[in-house]
Amino acid sequence: MTHWWQSGIVYQIYPRSFQDSNGDGIGDLPGIRQRLDYLHWLGVNAIWISPVYPSPMADFGYDVSDYRAIHPLFGSLADMDSLIAAAHQRQIKVILDFVPNHTSDQHPWFLASRSARDNPRRDWYIWRDAAPDGGPPNNWLSRFDGKAGWTWDAPTGQYYLHTFLKEQPDLNWRNPELRQAMLDVMRFWFDRGVDGFRVDVAYRVLKDAQFRNNPPNPNWQPGMDPFHRLIDKYNRNIPEIHQFNRWLRQVADAYPGRVLIGEINLPLPQLVQHYGQGDEFHLPFNFSLIHTAWTATAVRALADQYEGLLAASAAWPNWVLGNHDQHRVATRLGPAQARTAMLLLLTLRGTPTLYYGDELGMADVPIPPDQVQDPWELYVPGQGLGRDPERTPMQWDGSANAGFCPAGVTPWLPLANNYETVNVARQQNEPASMLALSQALIHLRQRTPALNQGSYQSLDTPAGLLAYLRRHDEESYLVVLNFTADVCHWQLPAGVTPQAILLSTHMDQPTALAGSSLHLRPNEGLVLRI
Ligand code: GLC
Ligand code: CA
Repeated sequence: MTHWWQSGIVYQIYPRSFQDSNGDGIGDLPGIRQRLDYLHWLGVNAIWISPVYPSPMADFGYDVSDYRAIHPLFGSLADMDSLIAAAHQRQIKVILDFVPNHTSDQHPWFLASRSARDNPRRDWYIWRDAAPDGGPPNNWLSRFDGKAGWTWDAPTGQYYLHTFLKEQPDLNWRNPELRQAMLDVMRFWFDRGVDGFRVDVAYRVLKDAQFRNNPPNPNWQPGMDPFHRLIDKYNRNIPEIHQFNRWLRQVADAYPGRVLIGEINLPLPQLVQHYGQGDEFHLPFNFSLIHTAWTATAVRALADQYEGLLAASAAWPNWVLGNHDQHRVATRLGPAQARTAMLLLLTLRGTPTLYYGDELGMADVPIPPDQVQDPWELYVPGQGLGRDPERTPMQWDGSANAGFCPAGVTPWLPLANNYETVNVARQQNEPASMLALSQALIHLRQRTPALNQGSYQSLDTPAGLLAYLRRHDEESYLVVLNFTADVCHWQLPAGVTPQAILLSTHMDQPTALAGSSLHLRPNEGLVLRI
């Protein structure tokens, strides 16, 4: 049986930036609801919404102060219920973000924990005595400033651990009561009809029980992200982490049809271990396309490696091209290769996750220093670490504020200055637009079992081209991508006989076929039936 999260397509919404419904310049849940018809038209099967819980917003919602409520900025629990119902009416699943590694320092649990050493919640967080010299208990670093990952709490005379900001104290999942409280949070949302969770920094949640020092990174040099001075051996992907995965999975398995997607940023051989024996994550996020060199050779190598690693198991692959932590794909690869990248994402074997706006080719928006919001950019400025550029408002139409918020309102991050040409309304009317391509690809994938669940096999090609077959039952499709800005010719191998070209990334009637030879224009990708 094929599950919806296998054959389907996930669309990530960064809620602050999707649609503002009440004129405060910040996106919200009723706004998402207003745009469900667009998502239905686009053809995606699920939305993953980054955190919408009450939060002081030190890390824009990834610092949660109440796991069972909605921040008033985004709406109310009733708004969430009606969003879930309206999405389900359109056969769209709803995936929420679960943030298990840390809370906000304003969460009542942490306020209690730091109030006294003998408070019953003390052990729900990770408290340690100072080192003999009074300094932090070990050398672990904090993610956004590369400084000590420990903050001294003078009233109770101990340090608390925070892998991210000091406003994001780490939870202690080795404490059984905390564990139950967090697993109950998952049940709370499952009971409300949520279809799954994307689990934030899942691979960092458990820490070395002995709190050993991390080793220095021999490859680090001044000017690099200061966090990478050390190799985070003892507070990331430690052997016990698989137990954490199983705790979550046991909860999810009590609810039919739910999915757990893990934010796990690891090389493929370690990543695939997070499927467990079918008892850990359904989908450990595969970010390898984001990190690889953008060449046909490199992409083939990683797709083949990934397929090889999964071959002996029932584990289901997945692919990601962008998210709220990475520079936009259109900026990383340029607009022409963003189109072939979209074809790749939507024709590889495995669940694709699409980041909002990438379907239009939205690019990074340069943020003037006085408008920077992301704490990472504020702590380590000027190195391109800040994530505001890829979090700017969705470009819906050519009106003032691009239809994201009313005219005259200042959106929380500036709009792209190209929004009058790069927007949904305009691209919906342009037959060759990026949006027309994305939508055509999504619909082609949806109606073609070979593409949404068939096998994958790569083929040898001339340099610059990537080609693979997708097969299911009697149906076979050939995908060919030209990674270069040059014309490429390919004499097709014996046995590969195209019947029809179904789609070109150029969104015109391609004439690429001449006998058994294929001609790809610069930056062109093709889907053929064979
Ligand atoms: C994850 C999120 C990121 C957040 C961090 C801390 O990496 O994707 O946005 O800042 O965790 O929660
Ligand atoms: Ca709003």
